[in-house]
Amino acid sequence: MLTCLQDHPLLQHNITILRDTATQGVAFRKSSRIITQLLVAKAAEQAGLTEVQVKTPLETTTGARIEAPIILVPILRAGLGMLEPAMEMLPNVSVGYVGLERDEETAVASSYYNKLPVLPDPHHVFVMDPMLATGGSAVQTISMLKEQGALKLTMICVIAAPEGIDCLQQAHPEVPIITGVIDRELNERKYILPGLGDYGDRLFGT
Ligand code: PRP
Ligand code: URA
Repeated sequence: MLTCLQDHPLLQHNITILRDTATQGVAFRKSSRIITQLLVAKAAEQAGLTEVQVKTPLETTTGARIEAPIILVPILRAGLGMLEPAMEMLPNVSVGYVGLERDEETAVASSYYNKLPVLPDPHHVFVMDPMLATGGSAVQTISMLKEQGALKLTMICVIAAPEGIDCLQQAHPEVPIITGVIDRELNERKYILPGLGDYGDRLFGT
């Protein structure tokens, strides 16, 4: 399943800010945060609810709580920018970290850090990485999470390239992808076009 939020006015407004070369620092992080929260709100539609009774000051009524613990897995480094806005919205989260970096020549990602929590039963894992370019980082991360016992996963990204979507759907067809926008293509260096450049560099000012 592929869900793209590109018709949402807040998505369009904020992705335009992110794409603009003139956007730096606080302004970049603010738009990144708003887009993340739109994406997480969409992803949360897949979380199951349990009915609960709640006492208002006037009477008891029926309410609902998100039932399964959600495990957030940001792919370092750029995914870190999505972590705090996601944590702010979701109850009952734990966090796993996956450090991957693409080789500048080959664009193949290699792992430099992993720290995952024990996966409770049931659970729902949200993998977060703003850029789905070749799809290599997302496929590696999801394969590793499945080896650790992850059963229910969702991939959340800000910009996806068609090549990355194909790659992820071929490797893990049952994992839903939620993206802000779908861009045109990758260039010869495997950067997304039109894209926004290097998300991590722009987020962290490097
Ligand atoms: C970027 C981005 C993704 C990856 C996507 O990370 O944050 O993790 O590239 O590319 P892929 O789909 O082709 O694997 P990068 O390796 O530049 O590291 P960074 O987040 O530390 O900047
Ligand atoms: N990673 C980025 O940060 N940007 C791209 O365009 C591709 C991968």
